[in-house]
Amino acid sequence: MITPEEFPYIKSLYVNDCYAYQDFDITLHDYKPFSHLILTGKNGSGKSTILEHLHNYISGWQTIDGRWFQASNNSLLLYIGTLRNERDGKLKTYKRYDETDNDYRQRLINELNKYERVIPSINTVVEVFWEQNKSLIVYSYFKAKRGYQSQKVEGPSKESDFTSKIDSPESTAYFTSSFKQYLVNKKIDQAFAQIDQLTEEVKVTEAFFETLREKLSDIFDIRINSIDFDHKNYEFYLHLEDGRKLTFEVLPEGFSAVLTILMDLFMRVDLIRKQLNEYTYNPCGIVLIDEPEAHLHLQLQEQILPLLTSLFPNIQFIAATHSPAVIASIKNATIFDLTTKETRISEEAVGRSYSDLMMSHFELNNEYSNIADGIIAQVDKAVAEFGNNPARLREVLQPIYDANSAYLSPTLKVKFELLMAEQEAKAVAHS
Ligand SMILES: Nc1ncnc2c1ncn2[C@@H]1O[C@H](COP(=O)(O)OP(=O)(O)O)[C@@H](O)[C@H]1O
Ligand SMILES: [Mg+2]
Repeated sequence: MITPEEFPYIKSLYVNDCYAYQDFDITLHDYKPFSHLILTGKNGSGKSTILEHLHNYISGWQTIDGRWFQASNNSLLLYIGTLRNERDGKLKTYKRYDETDNDYRQRLINELNKYERVIPSINTVVEVFWEQNKSLIVYSYFKAKRGYQSQKVEGPSKESDFTSKIDSPESTAYFTSSFKQYLVNKKIDQAFAQIDQLTEEVKVTEAFFETLREKLSDIFDIRINSIDFDHKNYEFYLHLEDGRKLTFEVLPEGFSAVLTILMDLFMRVDLIRKQLNEYTYNPCGIVLIDEPEAHLHLQLQEQILPLLTSLFPNIQFIAATHSPAVIASIKNATIFDLTTKETRISEEAVGRSYSDLMMSHFELNNEYSNIADGIIAQVDKAVAEFGNNPARLREVLQPIYDANSAYLSPTLKVKFELLMAEQEAKAVAHS
């Protein structure tokens, strides 16, 4: 079993080139045992590019097709295929080395890194760790454009269909489209376990479906009385408290967006637990989510990351978002704004008003900055009119402040308060 203390979580990212910006570091706050990362920034600032290339990099730890390191007799066998330098389009081929010289290996890695857009920093032996433990690591990448395309289930399938996909770069697409198959397999296994009187196994599966029922009830904000399985059609029905019976296919888009992520992770965790025969174990891993807020109404946007971090406490989430509701939602997170290159920690964001976050994080030309512009215009007008009468100006500013302070960013608020204090001081000096 891998513990969070030994798992190689990402500590920082070096961004070589995300199209919009080049050559900077994103350093994660030193939370123990790891920090989540939330990337924000204007449209086109490179959030998706960073996630996608981080995924490419991590896929290289998983497959022979990129970077592949294997420990054998204390020597490192390193096989690197052909890589394309994305900037000049040239191909460069790396050969196969048996190498014990760590300096040489490091030089080779440095050379390779020139061809990467995003380079995570963990520790020097991450590839070996990953190679040796990949069947016990949760790793998944949810692109911004994702949706649940259900597949018709015809009968049980082999579990190896899932385990063999777990370390492929496309595993997330496979898992999310096949979750019903996975659930069908579990129901059928359970039926056989019942026949064979394997009470423990039956209980474990019951507990799995019970957790699923509970969590889906929480998310949908309506009690699901039971998840019924129709073994003739291999179909599941969510039996709601109000009498409705829904299949997974007819859920509203927001729910299926959450369901997709949830099911993918439930399945991975379940496969790992099964392998270890340890059903309370919380596996370690890294999960990338582009726009977790996609398709969700505000309340669910607030809930999605807290839900995931509480269900999967040893997984490091790396998300890219536009939503202040997502930014302010979890603890132990580093928030990095690509547009300004500012780093915040979640303690500063949690509990701040959304309009604050909107203004300080996004500088959007939306209703919020229109409000801010409006406030600034009112202040300017008052200053123009009463600039030479500090006492009067102080008086006029107060109601503007009172009516608008909730919409002001912290910086703007401080500036406003300073302006009022100045007038007060001047008025006292005059009298
Ligand atoms: N393959 C590519 N080639 C050239 N430019 C790209 C490519 N992919 C994305 N871009 C550009 O890089 C910038 C960042 O895009 P993206 O990562 O999607 O931003 P965000 O997710 O923050 O909105 C955009 O200006 C986009 O047009
Ligand atoms: Mg994007």
